[in-house]
Amino acid sequence: MILSRSDVRAFLLDAAEQMKLAGSSVGDAKVVEGAEVLAEAAQAAQALEVASAPALVPLVERLRRLDPTHRTKSFLSVVDDLVWTSSPRCGCDGDSCALALLNRSFDLGAVTVGVLALRGDHTYPLHSHPPQETYVVLSGSAQWRFGGSTSFVPVPAGGVLYNNPDDLHSVIAGHDPVVAVYVLW
Ligand SMILES: [Fe+2]
Repeated sequence: MILSRSDVRAFLLDAAEQMKLAGSSVGDAKVVEGAEVLAEAAQAAQALEVASAPALVPLVERLRRLDPTHRTKSFLSVVDDLVWTSSPRCGCDGDSCALALLNRSFDLGAVTVGVLALRGDHTYPLHSHPPQETYVVLSGSAQWRFGGSTSFVPVPAGGVLYNNPDDLHSVIAGHDPVVAVYVLW
């Protein structure tokens, strides 16, 4: 099957726009750069053939019930079209955290794009990777460790954050599920 790519592209462009606006408002040039990388990749992306129907992981059922807001509207319109997977870092079966790996359904070149979903009151483990990374939070207030800091600070929905290459980072969800779009470049 081929995913409903125009909707998914619109979702990614919306996320890039939210990321850019938030990055501009806090004067974070790296976040703005990440938003531009995301927008360019989404514009150019060719849909890939996906061999089977998107796998549904348990957390997706909760995500469908998220409050529809201007931040989550386009996400909710594609939540069932994304290819969700459990995260090996989380060690769960996809009931406490899940990832939608956009590179599995689109050719995004050298850019890695995904959606991180984390159930309320759960933690996404500390990890790092060589590419730099920006997140925009679409839903859920949480405590995030990022940007080379060792402390956790609250980031609300609409917030953005940036990780330098190899920065250790993690997130502890508040009561509500966290949904965030990330771009690595
Ligand atoms: Fe990461």
